[in-house]
Amino acid sequence: MNGSAADPEGAAEGASAEVRAALEAVFDPGLRADPYGPLAVLREAAPVLYDEESGTRFLTGFADCQAVLAGPDFVVPDGPWLAREHPEWAARPAADFFYASLLGTNGAAHERLRGPLTAVFGPRRAAELSAGVEKVVDELLDRFEDATSDGGAADFQALVGYPLPVAVVGELIGVPRAEQERFHRLGRDAARLLEPVRSDEDWRRADTAVTALREYFTGLLRERRARPAEDLASALLAREGAAGSAPARRVREPAAGPSGGRARPSAARERPPAENGHPLGERELADLLLLVFVAGFETTAGLLGTAVSALLAHPEQAALLRADPGLLPGAVEEALRWDGPVLMAERLAARPTEVGGVAVPAGGSVTAVLGAANRDPRRYPDPDAFLVTRPDVRVLSFGAGPHYCFGAALARLEAAVLLGRLSARFPRLAPAGPPVRRASACLRSFDVLPLAATG
Ligand code: HEM
Repeated sequence: MNGSAADPEGAAEGASAEVRAALEAVFDPGLRADPYGPLAVLREAAPVLYDEESGTRFLTGFADCQAVLAGPDFVVPDGPWLAREHPEWAARPAADFFYASLLGTNGAAHERLRGPLTAVFGPRRAAELSAGVEKVVDELLDRFEDATSDGGAADFQALVGYPLPVAVVGELIGVPRAEQERFHRLGRDAARLLEPVRSDEDWRRADTAVTALREYFTGLLRERRARPAEDLASALLAREGAAGSAPARRVREPAAGPSGGRARPSAARERPPAENGHPLGERELADLLLLVFVAGFETTAGLLGTAVSALLAHPEQAALLRADPGLLPGAVEEALRWDGPVLMAERLAARPTEVGGVAVPAGGSVTAVLGAANRDPRRYPDPDAFLVTRPDVRVLSFGAGPHYCFGAALARLEAAVLLGRLSARFPRLAPAGPPVRRASACLRSFDVLPLAATG
């Protein structure tokens, strides 16, 4: 059923049994390995589908998802939304963190957080990390080789898929190697915040993890303030004026406000060269590092596992890649398109609007199903085929618009280096047991991926 003017909500209750079954199948843990069949049914029959139970409109077409993420009419659920809709969550540390973070702010509040981050870490800086990424990949593949040298199987995710992004994002931020394993566990618990529906257990674990990680990153900032290093923590401190402690370079604001009123107190009058309002305080900087950490490794670990798995399932494509390493960037894009790590992203209408010809009231929720958009046959011919030579792949896997993934270049780099080294060093890599998918409605990842090097 397609939403239309006569059916302004695109409501699921009027939908056919086939559409309702398809929607249920998308969220059925038993069908987690391949939700793309049911998603294709939704895209064909009801590309904008209102689901009363979750109160959101699922969007499964590429153009609709892109319009919602990149257009001006939709925003992310934020602090005011939290206070209005879920005051019972407000006292939770994890909610306090998330709904003031990059992923839970809009407009000027979001730009104020994003500006400093992009100023100190752009795609060029990601490319500069290339040598470091290669070194970590080589070390981890040595470990994988040792673990499989007797012809047996090893869990690729435990040995490579998780340790690689944890090491890379840890290095980027400034988390010492020795502490990264503990952080992996805490980050995993905090990442439950990315779930579209969070259970009590998700909240409890996220609260504990956020509290511990906040404490850690606050300590790290204090240490870097005393002894700066080559990392994100130090760069943010330098730019934001080491807020809360040692003064940094300051720029004077005009003494009188735009209305010509009284001069503001001297502390507020001075600010660092940020173009986006007052500098970030210590808590905000700690939370920024926390978000980059949490957003940066679960997703990338997902991509590494699914990319390797996709190549193993398509040996003729793996052979093309081995024969021509120039295909690596294309192979990474195709892996992101074919089975990207983030299945969906929610938005709220900032004003009465429409999507795909379906009216959405102000405050109405829509959910862009990125995984379905990436397989839209109107955008990609033969969308279910996995083709490392596919032309013109521009995925929605990193989102679009103001919240476009901050770490996309880094994630692409990690995946390209890994796939290149892996196909050169392990040409006979093979599945060696049933993989275990992550228990998540949103994150597509393998918890366990048993592989043998010499199969
Ligand atoms: C394959 C790996 C990755 C995938 C698939 C991915 C996916 C995404 C998506 C879909 C969003 C937007 C969410 C939304 O619009 O609601 C996002 C945002 C974000 N990602 Fe990634 N990500 C990946 C890796 C990384 C890495 C490596 C980092 C950090 C180094 C990172 C940091 C962030 C941050 C900070 C945001 C929030 C941006 C904002 O709201 O302004 N991500 N990511």
